[in-house]
Parts: sequence; C-alpha cells; structure tokens
Amino acid sequence: MNNLTGKIAIVTGASKGIGAGIATALAAAGASVVVNYASSQAGADAVVETITKAGGKAVTVQGDVSKATEAQAIVDAAVNNYGKVDILINNSGVYEFAPLEAITEEHVHKQFNVNVLGLLLVTQAAVKHMGSGGSIVNISSVASRITPPMGSVYSGTKGAVDAITGSLSRELGPKGIRVNAINPGMVATEGTKTAGFIGSDFEKGSVAQTPLGRIGQPKDIADIVVFLASDDAAWLTGDILIASGGLR
Ligand SMILES: NC(=O)c1ccc[n+]([C@@H]2O[C@H](COP(=O)([O-])OP(=O)(O)OC[C@H]3O[C@@H](n4cnc5c(N)ncnc54)[C@H](OP(=O)(O)O)[C@@H]3O)[C@@H](O)[C@H]2O)c1
Repeated sequence: MNNLTGKIAIVTGASKGIGAGIATALAAAGASVVVNYASSQAGADAVVETITKAGGKAVTVQGDVSKATEAQAIVDAAVNNYGKVDILINNSGVYEFAPLEAITEEHVHKQFNVNVLGLLLVTQAAVKHMGSGGSIVNISSVASRITPPMGSVYSGTKGAVDAITGSLSRELGPKGIRVNAINPGMVATEGTKTAGFIGSDFEKGSVAQTPLGRIGQPKDIADIVVFLASDDAAWLTGDILIASGGLR
C-alpha cells in the first residue's frame, strides 16, 4: 500500500512546516524528492539530510514559484536529476490576515502571486513531463470553507485553489493525471508560530471547534498526501479533502 518506489516527486515550499513533512513522508514511501525552497536553504538542506540519512533520495532546488523562470527551474531540477515527474505537491503558500480597511495592493498581490499564480506556473511546467498515473496535490485550506474574518484575501486565494483543482482535474483527466486538494485546518508549523497563531485565542477557538480536540501536525497532512500521490487513490480526482480533525 502507498508504495511510491520509482516515483519522482516535487514538493514546493518544503524547507519547513507542512512541506517538509510531506517531502519526508513521500521519500519514506519510496519516492525521490525535489525539495523546493524560496529563502530557507538551511531548512531545505536539513530536510534532504533527514531523507538521505534514512536511505531515501532527495535534492534541493531554490526557486520562487511566482516567477515563471524559477518555476521552470524547479521542474528542471526533477527532470535533470531523476528524468521525469510523477508527483507534484503544490504546497508553497503565504498567509496574512487583515481587516478590509487594511487591505493593500501588496497584501493582495503577494498572496495571490504565491498561492495561486505560483501553483499555476509550477503545474504548467511540470505537466509537460508528467504522463498517465501522474498525481498533483494542491495544499489549499479550510479557510476557503470557514472563511474567517480578516481572511478575505487568504481565503480568496484558497477558494481559487479549490476551483483550479476542479478545473485542472477535468483538463488533465484525459491524460491520466489526477488533481486533488487537501484543505488543512490549523497545523503547527514555523509559519503559524511566526504568525502568532500558536498559543493564541485563535488556536484555542480552533481546538474547541475540532471534534478530535487538537490542531494538526505536518504528519497528519503528509500521510494523506502520500495516499493521494499513490495508486491507492487511482480513482480520485477533482476531490477536496478537508483535513482538519473534523473542523468544518
Ligand atoms: N499551517 C497551517 O495552519 C495551514 C493551514 C491550512 C493550509 N496551510 C497551507 O499549507 C501550506 C504550508 O503552510 P505552512 O504553515 O507549512 O507554511 P510555512 O511554515 O510558513 O512554510 C511555507 C513554505 O512555503 C515556502 N514559500 C513561501 N513563499 C514561496 C515562494 N514564493 N516560492 C516558493 N516557496 C515559497 C517557504 O519557503 P522558504 O522558507 O524558503 O521561504 C516555506 O518552505 C501553505 O500553502 C498554507 O497556506 C497551512
């Protein structure tokens, strides 16, 4: 089950947080992994070291997903090192919360550039090298469904990711490439720590509304990614899996 031996995977934003957990889990399942980072080379190096020490295969590649040439370079790293692409995990993302009156052009462009444009650019480059049996997993968010206050722009980006997932599943289905999304609830990551969510009233409120009574860990999401990436999920495409311990 979930055997990814011989598969080549790209994980964007894998230097920390959910992406690092996904890269490690895909490698443990047998995939060779391209670990992308934007600025945290040390984090990406540490992820590759963890994978290789456990007997897996991985390389790092720097690249800002929101720049077409850099998105192409991320995919080139997979093709140059491993010859093909089977699995693409669009995980890179940024989140900033602001009330309507504080929204600026920069706030909108930054989040839509990484979370939406970046996802499209990497997918566009990767699909040229993917064949039947390929799997794309977009890391969206429950924010697209629960639409928290102050999150109009972030929720908007993830609503776009949900819609893109459906559209691309129809477009790429005839090529045998599946496209699904995972929509995590709150997960303990470097990003949520830096944003001040961990230990906040937001976290307490989130836990209180979560039937399983805690926030998520990167492994909770990574295990579902491994399933969606594998042939065990061969009959799933265009699906949006809400991975939140039951928070709706
Ligand atoms: N944590 C949560 O509660 C939660 C909940 C729902 C959904 N999500 C989604 O899950 C994903 C990961 O979140 P996280 O909490 O793990 O975030 P994180 O800890 O802040 O890590 C973000 C990752 O994205 C990379 N990144 C940022 N901008 C990039 C760019 N322009 N190009 C390439 N990579 C870029 C970062 O690379 P560098 O470090 O190298 O800059 C880092 O590896 C995001 O899409 C987020 O929206 C998170």
